[in-house]
Amino acid sequence: MNWNLLSINDLSRDEIESVLATASKDFLELSKRDIKKVPTLRGRTIIDLFYEKSTRTSTSFELAGKRLSADVINVKADSSAVGKGESLKDTTLTINAYRPDIIVIRHPHVGAAAFVSRFTEAHVINAGDGKGEHPTQCLLDIFSLRQEFRNLEGLKVAIVGDILHSRVARSNIQGFQKMGMKVKLVAPPSLLPRGVEALGAEVAHSLEALAGMDVIYLLRMQTERHESANFVPSLREYIANYCVGRRHLTKGQRVLHPGPINRGVEIEAALADSNENLILQQVEAGLAVRMAIMYRIIVDNAAAGEAASDTASSLHAGAASGASEAEIRNIQAVG
Ligand code: NCD
Repeated sequence: MNWNLLSINDLSRDEIESVLATASKDFLELSKRDIKKVPTLRGRTIIDLFYEKSTRTSTSFELAGKRLSADVINVKADSSAVGKGESLKDTTLTINAYRPDIIVIRHPHVGAAAFVSRFTEAHVINAGDGKGEHPTQCLLDIFSLRQEFRNLEGLKVAIVGDILHSRVARSNIQGFQKMGMKVKLVAPPSLLPRGVEALGAEVAHSLEALAGMDVIYLLRMQTERHESANFVPSLREYIANYCVGRRHLTKGQRVLHPGPINRGVEIEAALADSNENLILQQVEAGLAVRMAIMYRIIVDNAAAGEAASDTASSLHAGAASGASEAEIRNIQAVG
């Protein structure tokens, strides 16, 4: 795996498969044990830097690091020196001085995670940069779909709602297609990015387009990113045309949503409460997938670093990286 995870395009299809395999084989079951902790990243430091509100992403990154036994520090912009005018560059340089292994960053501006990566030796994980990307959400969504459908090749997914302001949509359009799925975008023209067809997805403007889909992926109205209030003529009209309920589904269709859900806006309450949606499975997957990503970033790069620094012989290099991986990979519950 790459040094950083800034975009879903940092990962090949094979690397995505390999992260998903690590998540399901090593980490999914851990949550069901009494002792939910392994010593895998003991002695490593993870700093979670959140400049935007978050429940699922921040909780799961924090829990993931803690369950891997890393030292995890959470910095929230509203209680840090950011409120005293410190720039993102200076905050990154400050945090970098503690020599963290991983920095997880969520920020309202596109490109913030890439920017942070220029000022730190830590691995950087993008936990959402404005309407840019949200690669770990994409991975957990692919994981959840894999749990439900097994074979993703040719699976038809409709992404519905405020696509224009959604980093989840930007990562998922690319990630889903990379895994062989067919993507359709369903939204009013005012909530679609200009030139979105270039990303290879079909476009439709009414919920009739949900017929024949396997998966319906709902998005919230992300009003915090609406520079003006005029993206839809009225919320009432939007709800009348785009709020998805059970009556819109046909047998076997499954509904995903990254959360937070807004009942009665993009999803009817009865659908939110039905087992036709995979929303809580997505939340559960988020923890296992984020553990897998942090584990792979550290282990793969530690192995690569050791192999590169060993000039004695390729045989010796292989042995050195193997030993280190075996040591870190000791997935035994901490007693
Ligand atoms: C998404 C996000 O923050 O981009 N949520 C999440 O990470 N679970 C989607 C959203 O906020 O609507």
